[in-house]
Amino acid sequence: MLLTLPDILNATEVAEARAALATAPWADGRPGAGRQAVQVKNNEQLPLDCAVSRQLGAQVLAALQQHPLVLSAALPRRIFPPRFNRYRGTTNHYGNHVDGAVRLLPGSGQPLRTDLSCTLFLSDPASYDGGELVMQEPGGEQRIKLPAGHLVLYPGTTVHQVTPVTRGERLACFFWIESLVRGSDQRRLLYEMDMALMALRQRDGESPEAVALTGCYHNLLRLWAET
Ligand code: NI
Repeated sequence: MLLTLPDILNATEVAEARAALATAPWADGRPGAGRQAVQVKNNEQLPLDCAVSRQLGAQVLAALQQHPLVLSAALPRRIFPPRFNRYRGTTNHYGNHVDGAVRLLPGSGQPLRTDLSCTLFLSDPASYDGGELVMQEPGGEQRIKLPAGHLVLYPGTTVHQVTPVTRGERLACFFWIESLVRGSDQRRLLYEMDMALMALRQRDGESPEAVALTGCYHNLLRLWAET
């Protein structure tokens, strides 16, 4: 399931993030990429341990934790520390690849399964050309270019690329989520059920049926969650 979620960061937060990123210590994005990905990767990334990365990463994580739709859609067990990338000039694209299935958490070295790949757009889409996130979906290509502050979540299994930026620069934050619910079909069912329950409560208020269905939701989650 591909899901776009608006306004993870507001306009002020995005402006502050861009200002901080303008003077950040950008580096070649290739170190750390897998064997296939490194051949098609040509962008810049912020080192994980730099001050800007740590500060903005913490801000993004806090915003995610407060976003009910993100929590409902992803059911996060663990989130990889958010990273930041930049596409412009001669380092301007990232060809087709699948993100590595398992990444080691910085510090602890514990493996994290990348159930969901996430991109938080930070540049105004009118300020750059190209830079679309293109996914190979069973039904065809899906091209994503979102307003600044908006997030896309997509299955880690998806072949995807970022097309060359031919004008301006594209700043983004990216990270992976290991979900409590490994299977994307199960995750999708739970998300749809949660959304329907929310709409039901908004329309009719509390009811014995809403309580019973909420029980079903939690019992399915109990059945499928790996903690
Ligand atoms: Ni990727």
